[in-house]
Amino acid sequence: MLDIQTAAAHPHVTRRADYTPPDWQVPDIALDFDLAPERTRVRATLNVVRGGAHDRPLRLDGGGQTLLSVSVDGVAVNDWTLEDGALVLPLAGSEHVIETEVEIAPDRNTQLMGLYASGGNLCTQCEAEGFRRITFFPDRPDVLSRYRVKMTADKARFPVLLANGDPIAQGDLEGGKHWAEWHDPFLKPCYLFAMVAGDLHANKGQFVTMSGRTVDLGIWVRAADVPRTQHALEALKTSMAWDEKVYGREYDLDVFNIVAVDDFNFGAMENKGLNVFNSRYILADPDTATDYDYDAIAAVVAHEYFHNWSGNRVTCRDWFQLSLKEGFTVYRDQSFSADQGSAAVKRIEDVRGLRAAQFPEDAGPLAHPIRPDEYQEISNFYTATIYNKGAEVIRMLATMLGAADFRKGSDLYFDRFDGTAATCEDFVHSMEEASGADLSQFRLWYSQAGTPRVKAQIAHTPGSGRAVLTLEQTVPPTPGQPDKQPMVLPIKLKLFGAETAKPLSEEKLAILSDGRAEIAFEEVTERPVLSINRGFSAPVVVETDRTPEDLAFLSAHDDDPFARYEAMQQLMLDTLVADASGMQSDHDAVIAAVALTLDDPALDRAFVAEAVLLPSESFIGDQMAVVDPDAIYAAREALRHAIGKTLEAKWRGIYALAAAQGPYAYSPAAKGLRRMKTVALGYIAASGAADAATLAFAQFEAADNMTDRQGALTSLVNSDGKERVAALDIFYNRYSDNALVLDKWFQTQALSQRDDTLAAVQDLVRHSDFTLANPNRARALVGAFAVNQRAFNAASGAGYRFVADQLIALDKLNPQTAAKLLPPLGRWRRFDAGRAALMKAELERIVSTPGLSKDMFEQASKSLA
Ligand code: PHE
Ligand code: ZN
Repeated sequence: MLDIQTAAAHPHVTRRADYTPPDWQVPDIALDFDLAPERTRVRATLNVVRGGAHDRPLRLDGGGQTLLSVSVDGVAVNDWTLEDGALVLPLAGSEHVIETEVEIAPDRNTQLMGLYASGGNLCTQCEAEGFRRITFFPDRPDVLSRYRVKMTADKARFPVLLANGDPIAQGDLEGGKHWAEWHDPFLKPCYLFAMVAGDLHANKGQFVTMSGRTVDLGIWVRAADVPRTQHALEALKTSMAWDEKVYGREYDLDVFNIVAVDDFNFGAMENKGLNVFNSRYILADPDTATDYDYDAIAAVVAHEYFHNWSGNRVTCRDWFQLSLKEGFTVYRDQSFSADQGSAAVKRIEDVRGLRAAQFPEDAGPLAHPIRPDEYQEISNFYTATIYNKGAEVIRMLATMLGAADFRKGSDLYFDRFDGTAATCEDFVHSMEEASGADLSQFRLWYSQAGTPRVKAQIAHTPGSGRAVLTLEQTVPPTPGQPDKQPMVLPIKLKLFGAETAKPLSEEKLAILSDGRAEIAFEEVTERPVLSINRGFSAPVVVETDRTPEDLAFLSAHDDDPFARYEAMQQLMLDTLVADASGMQSDHDAVIAAVALTLDDPALDRAFVAEAVLLPSESFIGDQMAVVDPDAIYAAREALRHAIGKTLEAKWRGIYALAAAQGPYAYSPAAKGLRRMKTVALGYIAASGAADAATLAFAQFEAADNMTDRQGALTSLVNSDGKERVAALDIFYNRYSDNALVLDKWFQTQALSQRDDTLAAVQDLVRHSDFTLANPNRARALVGAFAVNQRAFNAASGAGYRFVADQLIALDKLNPQTAAKLLPPLGRWRRFDAGRAALMKAELERIVSTPGLSKDMFEQASKSLA
């Protein structure tokens, strides 16, 4: 029995349908900060204007600050009340000047929302509802204001004072203090407010915009980190040029600053003219960052920069519209990255990410449409669905409308809604108006949750020259949405001849909008093999009756690189699911397909490295009616062993070749070889070769870059040899002063495939470098362990208990980050009765924890429902 004693048991639900425009607008705000970590005084002057004819009081949201004084039009008042932390003030006229004075304590702010201390500096994070923790304000994105900010602080401790917009004035004061004033000429919602005070040093650059204006760029970090900022600075310049070229969007202020902080709940934040970043998405040099890190830095720098238009110039009317800015901006950053290197590999990575994070979300208790209808805590909706499925929805629009009309629609949208707070509907309508397309049914993508499933069957009558493809779609029920309507699915198709390996058709874009459709192909002169959902044109699950031979054939002959990768993955997946379900499977087909791919000289190495990797344990689990983590692990290891052993000579050849490359370079070719090298090392280890650990340790010691070093460490961490402990020690000692690299040390161990991983992780929680207070560190250990399918799902339930213990502890410090790590516990319906009961027991323990945050309450209670 569940006995819920917490206040969160009767949560407040915010509904999209209840939207009403703000009662009061705030066209101007002046903020005056007297900054100190222990005690910061904030004076706010708001020009407020009554919105329409109503007699409701002014309601300013708040969040735990100490209120010192309130005045209206220069006169101190005390007829205000505090309701749920908000300041409620009756006002007689239609325009007033409100002044409030409050006190906050940044160094006690462990939630990292509002104004907080990180590494001795002070910084802000306001999205979604952090601004109210700094000062009283109508904290909603459709209140747009012009900001003036004055900051005063001790000059020795906080020599650099930054805020949004342009610097206006600065000066010194008595007593070692100084001040600076910033002015942001653009209207913005308060979630885009930012301010940073600290001992920071900049890597500076310039960008000349398309209209010839010079923008001063600065990447601000602690002095010792300045040498690690060049890659981010280059990425920023490339992003600025790309947005001009591809979307016609020019930067609009004279300065653009980025600050890196070590304690941050998310990846980064697009505050107007002053982005604040998790330092993991800024700092890189070859010795400390992997190729993967370099790519992620460029992608996140681009993402936040692109928000200047998709998010800032045009913002969101309310938080239900979050995907308006996030889905579009992810689509923009994905396109940017695709243009910088291999578009095929980028698409493979993005789809892999979607399947790893979004498909399970869409199939589980927390499923929601990309435009949700209700929430308890908006922080819980910064999800893979809003971001990544949201990006897929924009991508489908681009695919269906074509590049030219998509650009017309985007121009119209930016033009029409510049300086306003818009809705997803505004975006879709702009696309519709610019292209003339009818997107009525397409809008279901915004309201229906769940991943559509498409069944494809092809019938060919030999001799007739005719083949008929039957497509059928179903959209599964999700919480609150038992019945679904058919959606609009743009599916790219092509047929190949089984004998000649030649294309039998052009690529077709089929738009499936009914439950069922038939598509005829003529002049099909030999048995056709179906290539479907090429480029992953629709974010759906496709089921076909293609045989292992057909899949192997496509993996060798398809001319769409994504489809080629996909065919190989499907072949591997079918084999692994059969093995894990105790059925007979044929490893030889997989091994032969891998061999052919390895031997194909036309393929780029980065692509090959992706193509020959087996699907993850959790993705295999997603295909099964009941996830059997031990059987999946065993099946995957057995296939890895078979591929490793049978093709051992090839792996060694590839490894030797890749290992012989010259010193580190950051080029696509060098990255591809490094990737191939670590994949080959993995298969050599899987083969059971006696020298695998020696080889890995040699790579570990000789590495002149983090990609090779971490690749070798990962291989060793899964092994039993003495090299494992040695490498972990060397790695720790070498990087003990670098938090980002220590995160890798924790994470690699949490992801280990060894039988003793849980025990190791329990020890690591007591390590002197472990702390739940730093979100990166918490995610590196607890978050990583929770996605280590076999270890987390140990039949004893010890993995579940460990994670629940950590989340309960973390919730007291940082509810947002804790709640983000809960979903793995909510997957109990996917497991056998024994594991399901153990997971539910942990969720119930969490829900009934006294003082639980509403963030955690929402995630845990919905996961139980
Ligand atoms: N808006 C940020 C982004 O996507 C994410 C974020 C959300 C950061 C909430 C902090 C807090 O780019
Ligand atoms: Zn974003």
